[in-house]
Amino acid sequence: MSTPEPTRHLPESHPGLHYMDFMAHVSRARDSKRYLEVGVSQGHLMSQIHTRTAIGVDPSFDITFNVSHGKTIVTLVQVPSDTFFAEYDYAALAGGPPDLIFLDGMHTFEYLLRDFYNAEAIASDRTLIVLHDCLPLNAEMAERNAKVSAHLGVNTRFPYHWTGDVWKIIPILQTYRPDLRLVYVDCPPTGLVCVTNLNPASKTLKTQYFAIVDAFRALGNDLPAIDNLYGTIDITPSSRITNDHDLTLYFGG
Ligand SMILES: C[S@@+](CC[C@H](N)C(=O)[O-])C[C@H]1O[C@@H](n2cnc3c(N)ncnc32)[C@H](O)[C@@H]1O
Repeated sequence: MSTPEPTRHLPESHPGLHYMDFMAHVSRARDSKRYLEVGVSQGHLMSQIHTRTAIGVDPSFDITFNVSHGKTIVTLVQVPSDTFFAEYDYAALAGGPPDLIFLDGMHTFEYLLRDFYNAEAIASDRTLIVLHDCLPLNAEMAERNAKVSAHLGVNTRFPYHWTGDVWKIIPILQTYRPDLRLVYVDCPPTGLVCVTNLNPASKTLKTQYFAIVDAFRALGNDLPAIDNLYGTIDITPSSRITNDHDLTLYFGG
């Protein structure tokens, strides 16, 4: 008797709206006033966002796009995100808390974990935090070292798509913060996770940081582990969200 093939959950691709188009729609549909982007690089995404005030954080900007497009005030803070959250006051710089945050800085899970709890602490209860690259499509792109990932991925269907292991934020939030609302969206190339129902007063992730890092460093970062991730989530088509009359069904008011 042959053993049955294990069920495979990993999708072939994410077939929805490109993540920049989705974010541009969200910024308009939610009438964003204050935006924060961690990890800006050339400013391609930032140039698509409609908002009154935008603050970008990156230790090494390489701006080639018009990041002022669709905005009144743009501030670029050239420091690592840990320094930004420790030494700068977002609300003082922007005139209030961010209503839309995009986290796309260092692509290892412990960095994203810190970016997440630091971002939540400066948020309001109506803020939407969007996490990039948390739905990898193979193990090569999820490799923690960017250079090794580029080497391993060169002959795959997605060369040079480095996500690192930031996908581990999903089981972390599922385990430690079941109070958060997570919506997983099929935006290419590597998915978006939209997080609402934030609690800026929550200290759970920060106080348990080392216990979480130790536990999730031990979790595999291979194909079975990534496949297993997809078995725990339902992915929402981006068109279902953007075609609705507003976004409150998904992200609250
Ligand atoms: C993938 S790029 C960002 C792309 C941009 N969000 C977009 O969609 O157009 C990642 C950026 O994260 C930045 N980065 C790396 N480490 C960081 C850190 N500790 N804090 C903030 N940004 C970081 C890198 O310098 C790089 O520019």
